[in-house]
Amino acid sequence: MVCLGNICRSPLAQGIMEKHAPRQWYIDSAGTSGWHASERPDTRSILTAKERGITIDQQRSRQVTPEDFEIFDIIFAMDSSNHSNLIQLAPEESVKDKVRLILNEAYPGENRQVPDPYTGGQEGFSHVYELLEEAIQSFLRAQ
Ligand code: 4NP
Repeated sequence: MVCLGNICRSPLAQGIMEKHAPRQWYIDSAGTSGWHASERPDTRSILTAKERGITIDQQRSRQVTPEDFEIFDIIFAMDSSNHSNLIQLAPEESVKDKVRLILNEAYPGENRQVPDPYTGGQEGFSHVYELLEEAIQSFLRAQ
């Protein structure tokens, strides 16, 4: 799960996926930037998750690396900027198709974005949560 800072959107996505996915799956999140490396998720994300029974305050932000393309089968981007940054980071052509826009799981081909909630209020985080829950449920139903 990849966003820009790895403190707002992708920690929520990781928490939701960990709640619903098969236990043997290895799920992680990262940011295209390292601006918040080693920080906890934003308190607004922690609260949004906690209100829905999901704990994410053990997560720590990290920057995505080319090695992530070897480790992970699927790399979900939250928005088109994350998507293009990931494509540029891909160590080889053959792994670029691991990168997917996460809302295309619920709305195939529409290239919808998970909006960056960083500069807004708590309600933006609830909206992000609902979008991610819908996309992840769609993804898991298709497996
Ligand atoms: P995220 O949100 O990409 O969902 O973690 C942001 C977090 C921090 C910043 C921007 C977006 N920032 O500019 O520091």
